[in-house]
Amino acid sequence: MKKNKITIAIDGPAGSGKSTVAKRVAEALGLLYLDTGAMYRAVTLKALQAGISPTDGEKLAALAAETDLSFVRAVDGTYHLFMDGQDVSGEIRSAPVTMNVSAVSAIPKVREVLVKQQQAIARPGGVVMDGRDIGTVVLPQADLKIFLTASLEERARRRWLELKANGFSGTQEEIAVDLERRDAFDAGRAVSPLKPAPDSIIIDTSMLGIEEVVGRILTLASSFFSRQED
Ligand code: DC
Repeated sequence: MKKNKITIAIDGPAGSGKSTVAKRVAEALGLLYLDTGAMYRAVTLKALQAGISPTDGEKLAALAAETDLSFVRAVDGTYHLFMDGQDVSGEIRSAPVTMNVSAVSAIPKVREVLVKQQQAIARPGGVVMDGRDIGTVVLPQADLKIFLTASLEERARRRWLELKANGFSGTQEEIAVDLERRDAFDAGRAVSPLKPAPDSIIIDTSMLGIEEVVGRILTLASSFFSRQED
């Protein structure tokens, strides 16, 4: 296996540090990074814009199928998601999208459409993908599967610091309530619930810094490469 062909799945609940860690790992290994949560967020945004209910499965699946999504890495290293040619990277993080994305992502036909796109992107290899069902459903053959966890309190603290820096005036407790609601929904849904794949490596990031988590994953990736070379 060539180093640039490895496939890494990183799953975990909201605020576990998945996307920051996945981006850093992808950069360190020269791999493509794919944020699957952003894809569910984009479909949710489009549904809200079109006035489609986040529980109308048929319409949402049709909407997902006709939506063109592409990721672009800017020269400053930031990732941008384009929906039908428009940069929606900011809008997909808005409160209405965050409120409704769990409902949209629980619809089996929406998942079917987006999972197919995710699998097509990963087919050539050389990708780090983060989400909830990457190790279990999207890429069950991934070379390395990581499941990141952290206590609810720590995840709420991280998210609060991030949002506060962007002008949010609410409390950490409000964030904790929202994270708990989303986790319960994502873990309790019938299709592709949030759960670690049996062969995933679980890392509790509550007491770890980003660099430490990235370092552990890079060590796991390099032991994977050396096993391949044996
Ligand atoms: O990672 P995130 O918070 O941006 O994800 C937004 C929502 O999308 C989250 O509530 C769960 C859902 N999601 C999913 O169901 N499957 C994925 N692979 C990624 C995200």
